[in-house]
Amino acid sequence: MNVGDERSISYWMHESPVIDAPPLATDETCDVVVIGSGIAGLSTAYELSRFGRSVIVIDRGGIGNGMTARTTAHLATELDDFYSELIRVRGEDEARLYHDSQVAAVNRIEAICRDEGIDADFARLDGYLFPAEDSHKAELEEEYQACKTIGVDVDWADRAPVPGIDTGMALRFPNQGRFHPTKYLKGLANAILARGGRIYADTVHVSDQETDEGVEITTEAGPVIRAGAAVFCTNSPTNDKVAIHAKQTPDRTYVVAGPVPKGSVPDALVWDTYEAYHYVRIQPLGETEDLLIVGGADHRSGEAHDMDQRLDSLESWTRERYPSFTRATYRWSGQVMETMDFMPFSGRNPGSRNIYVHTGDSGMGITNGVAGSLTIMPLIIGEDSRFGPVLDPGRKSFTSTSSIGEFIREQAGSAKNYMEHITGGEIASADELEPGQGGLMRKGLSKIAVYKDETGAVVQRSAVCTHLGCIVHWNGFEKCWDCPCHGSQFAPDGQVLNGPAVQPLAEVEE
Ligand SMILES: Cc1cc2nc3c(=O)[nH]c(=O)nc-3n(C[C@H](O)[C@H](O)[C@H](O)COP(=O)(O)OP(=O)(O)OC[C@H]3O[C@@H](n4cnc5c(N)ncnc54)[C@H](O)[C@@H]3O)c2cc1C
Ligand code: FES
Repeated sequence: MNVGDERSISYWMHESPVIDAPPLATDETCDVVVIGSGIAGLSTAYELSRFGRSVIVIDRGGIGNGMTARTTAHLATELDDFYSELIRVRGEDEARLYHDSQVAAVNRIEAICRDEGIDADFARLDGYLFPAEDSHKAELEEEYQACKTIGVDVDWADRAPVPGIDTGMALRFPNQGRFHPTKYLKGLANAILARGGRIYADTVHVSDQETDEGVEITTEAGPVIRAGAAVFCTNSPTNDKVAIHAKQTPDRTYVVAGPVPKGSVPDALVWDTYEAYHYVRIQPLGETEDLLIVGGADHRSGEAHDMDQRLDSLESWTRERYPSFTRATYRWSGQVMETMDFMPFSGRNPGSRNIYVHTGDSGMGITNGVAGSLTIMPLIIGEDSRFGPVLDPGRKSFTSTSSIGEFIREQAGSAKNYMEHITGGEIASADELEPGQGGLMRKGLSKIAVYKDETGAVVQRSAVCTHLGCIVHWNGFEKCWDCPCHGSQFAPDGQVLNGPAVQPLAEVEE
């Protein structure tokens, strides 16, 4: 199981799991084992297999059925948190190198589609950033100057291509990209198999150990993989307890999508300047229609109960700006990991010799995942990694007082969560729940996660997350338990859907 088993279905999930793969049944050995089959894991396995390394990929669920199947797949090189901010916290040189990593990622996707004959609807197109409010125009001007300083290709457009409103002056970023993420993952998976790689679904990493020869990965069903190196691409790392999780926080983000007449919405990437910004693109559907895909309405995971209202307001926002959009045929959500200095963590796991990790994608996880593969592959084969120093998971993330302040505010959410161990419950008994609903109940000294299924049967599990003990919260839209601290998600019966947790919520006496 993984997040592919949550309630909502994205448009891309019609093509996932991207390949049928068996579970791992016996012990195996290889040069490199990759844990996780999203964009980061399959890209890393692909690069290593091209270089002649024997690779094994395992995934706790279906192949390519994680957050990558819930994305919107803008291939943008403009940083969603803005280069002006990145320069403030990391300086011009690192911001320039980070931008180079994003350009390299989009180029790499284009080259792999061409070389491997992957038809993933890849297209080059312009990206537009427009001011959500008049008062945001100064931010745009500042971002324009920051982009010019570090050599980002940008100019001013009179307006963004948003048919229903005059957005006013917008920043235009040429040569961005878009693709169909699960068609792309399918192509990568087949290319890995064609080079002798092995891919196993429904195979859960539960523990790992460094040895003299490399690494041993133990899976839930028992088989062990012995490899020279391991790369954790599990979105939120399942190998690490604290080091990386102390430097990032999880956010839920939402998507609505519906058909529009072909040509009524220009083929471009569009974003606005809200902190929980709206992000827009189309996906070609056929001769007469495109799918308009709009994301936004983000919040810290586990801290909202108004998902339907958020999706309704995303639809209203879309109707006003895109009059040819009449109805949403898809509504889905997913989670992104926000790091305190806006860049992902890709490279050797802090304190490890042969364990590598990629995480911390923010809203740029497709390009960051590919940039991560371009960073980790050279480290493993012993070559210089151009982006290694800037994306190093061990880097000190506090480089300015403003980033410290922002991060402390974010981490206060985790501290507040621990207080929930001693507060009351949301419900006094399961009788208060409607079928299909969950809620937290106090039972003596414990907090219990109570779920009533559609038939009225009640499941009770400990509400204590098995990663580091935060209290999970019910997500009524996806019908799962979300942990606000580091991104774990659990099914109504407590099974793990997303790391860092690897153990289910504990059973309790009912
Ligand atoms: C709604 C939404 C919109 C987005 N829009 C964009 C966008 O436009 N552009 C962009 O660049 N990024 C975007 N992102 C971010 C991006 O999609 C993600 O960051 C990225 O896809 C994550 O890829 P990944 O490989 O790290 O993780 P995943 O795709 O989640 O892959 C990780 C895999 O690890 C597996 N796993 C977890 N634990 C274990 C374990 N213990 N054992 C074995 N396997 C395990 C999971 O089952 C999963 O399949 C968006 C994200 C969302 C949710
Ligand atoms: S994810 Fe870390 S405590 Fe729940």
